[in-house]
Amino acid sequence: MNRITLTRPDDWHLHLRDGDILRSIVGFTAARFGRAVIMPNLKPPVTTTSLAVEYRKRVVAALPAGCSFEPLMTLYLTDNTPAAEVDRAVASGVVCGIKYYPAGATTNADCGVTTLERTFAVLERMEELGLVLQVHGEVTDDGVDVFDRERVFIERHLSRIVARYPALRVVLEHVTTREGVQFVDSQPGTVAATITPQHLLLNRNALFVGGIRPHHYCLPVLKREGDRLALLEAATSGSQKYFLGTDSAPHARGDKESACGCAGVFSAPAAIELYAEAFDQAGALDRLQAFASHHGADFYRLARNSGSISLVRDPWRPAASYPFGDRDIVPFFAAEAIGWRLDNPGNP
Ligand code: NCD
Ligand code: ZN
Repeated sequence: MNRITLTRPDDWHLHLRDGDILRSIVGFTAARFGRAVIMPNLKPPVTTTSLAVEYRKRVVAALPAGCSFEPLMTLYLTDNTPAAEVDRAVASGVVCGIKYYPAGATTNADCGVTTLERTFAVLERMEELGLVLQVHGEVTDDGVDVFDRERVFIERHLSRIVARYPALRVVLEHVTTREGVQFVDSQPGTVAATITPQHLLLNRNALFVGGIRPHHYCLPVLKREGDRLALLEAATSGSQKYFLGTDSAPHARGDKESACGCAGVFSAPAAIELYAEAFDQAGALDRLQAFASHHGADFYRLARNSGSISLVRDPWRPAASYPFGDRDIVPFFAAEAIGWRLDNPGNP
């Protein structure tokens, strides 16, 4: 197979930032995907529907001319989010979910949830109105090893959420572990997960190949080879519980190549191509369309996209860096060969 055509895919987990940076990067995603869920961890965070509506307008204004890309918004849950915000979010028609960051778990998560109980009124209203909860599933306790944070979050918090709100639709964002996959598989159809390209393609050795590799550092951090294989199996299984969410999380080169480098892998310039690479390695290219273009839309109860994209087997290399506002950014697979190329002349 040297060419594949897919229903235009969607990215169910994406960081676009704001201002000049947003304008530098949104075209990469819009060239590949019909829609994306735009993460709300700006400074200050997108905690209300009115902030999300404004942010959405800035995303649309930053799109290259002639794009039909649709940003789907999500709100940043805090200890103080009122249940009435759920009503406003649903009424807006542009908010598809609410994002749960444990306080301090990742970039700009300081305003996140400190105590699960404080979110109960919001979760109850989300369950009633059918708004999706998107969970960053990691505890932040110093005493819990960074490689165990997802498993412990599932044990302590996620299992309580799904037991208490059985009709609430929950996405375990960027699942990274075998235990995470086992948990999602054990739950009813209300529980799903997104999977990133870096967690499908790399294990934690990639953080240390020949020296420390800041561009492979993201949260949740890369895991063991056994975890990667469990993710690859889940993504290519055909299960409707798994769908594409890149977690493309751009940081300027200098903020990554630093004594205290930021977490985030910038995969947007080659996102769908990288998934094709992973599915091809697993001999499962025939399963890519369902994972990339069907399962997420079905879970979110949105129509599947009507257009299509094509990929051709024609190795290419992302640039060593791209402009990023007035700085530059190093993409995932910078200057490294990727087997599949987007057959979409004229796009970035
Ligand atoms: C994300 C970011 O930079 O906003 N970083 C990351 O490593 N994934 C935040 C997040 O999704 O955890
Ligand atoms: Zn993210």
